[in-house]
Amino acid sequence: MAAGSSPARLIDGKAIAKATRRRLKGRVNALQEAGVRPGLAVILVGEDPASAIYVRNKERACKRVGIASTLVRLPAETSQADLLARIDAINNDPEIDGLLVQLPLPDHLDDDAITARVADDKDVDGFGVNNLGALTAGRPTLVACTPAGVMEMLHQHGEDTGWSPVGKNAVVIGRSITVGKPMSLLLLSAHCTVTICHSRTVDLADHLSRADLVVAAVGVPELVRGEWLSPEAVVIDVGIHRRPDGSLCGDVHFDSAAERVAAISPVPGGVGPMTVAMLLANTVAACERRRGPGATA
Ligand code: GUN
Repeated sequence: MAAGSSPARLIDGKAIAKATRRRLKGRVNALQEAGVRPGLAVILVGEDPASAIYVRNKERACKRVGIASTLVRLPAETSQADLLARIDAINNDPEIDGLLVQLPLPDHLDDDAITARVADDKDVDGFGVNNLGALTAGRPTLVACTPAGVMEMLHQHGEDTGWSPVGKNAVVIGRSITVGKPMSLLLLSAHCTVTICHSRTVDLADHLSRADLVVAAVGVPELVRGEWLSPEAVVIDVGIHRRPDGSLCGDVHFDSAAERVAAISPVPGGVGPMTVAMLLANTVAACERRRGPGATA
């Protein structure tokens, strides 16, 4: 079945990202009137083709809203010490508000140590333990971009339809630091009853049958079948995979789910554009905090 003929309402991440960028542009203009241009630095180590595409999308999106972007390309054989020194230099650069080290890194590098080196107030990925801790304590600072983007999508879905997360049974599939854990905390703050499922969960279908809201971030192509879902379910698909024929799919089997559920985000055109939009939002917020009018940092 074609996406356009599905009975489920489509949650259009591309359109929500566009509206988000429009609002951000206003904030960037206000900063520029105060003589400040927000700056984002991205470090890309090695030649991973998917990472190169993500980074290009991020640079393009920065340009659209007036954020200065700096790409630091390093060879795959860069040492841990050299990479840490680069991070330190960017941490100390007053013109740069946000720093992202593109993952995955080559195997000889220690992701945790590298993520931990990014200054908390420039950690626009929200992967550092202090920013994750602030979220856990219910005082979010810089929140990981993908889960923050999912919350924006749910907010817009609520504006459009009257849907509310309060009291809903939410099932998050995935327990990563990048998506599953922060996603679960954000939904808890939004007053959902949250169940975290993952690759070792027994009887995933049983959990999903009771879910009013499903966020699929498990990294398995088309794992979630429509038959497992409730007709009232709102489904957000974080996965993105390339099929052997070159087409893209998510963690949810779109056609069977769209036939059954109340609303679903497509892949592509769902969470992906929102992740990039929230990276811009985090960069602007970090800039306002450090250098905006009335900044105390
Ligand atoms: N690689 C894929 N997604 C991401 C992301 O959100 N942040 C970083 N740093 N690397 C990624």
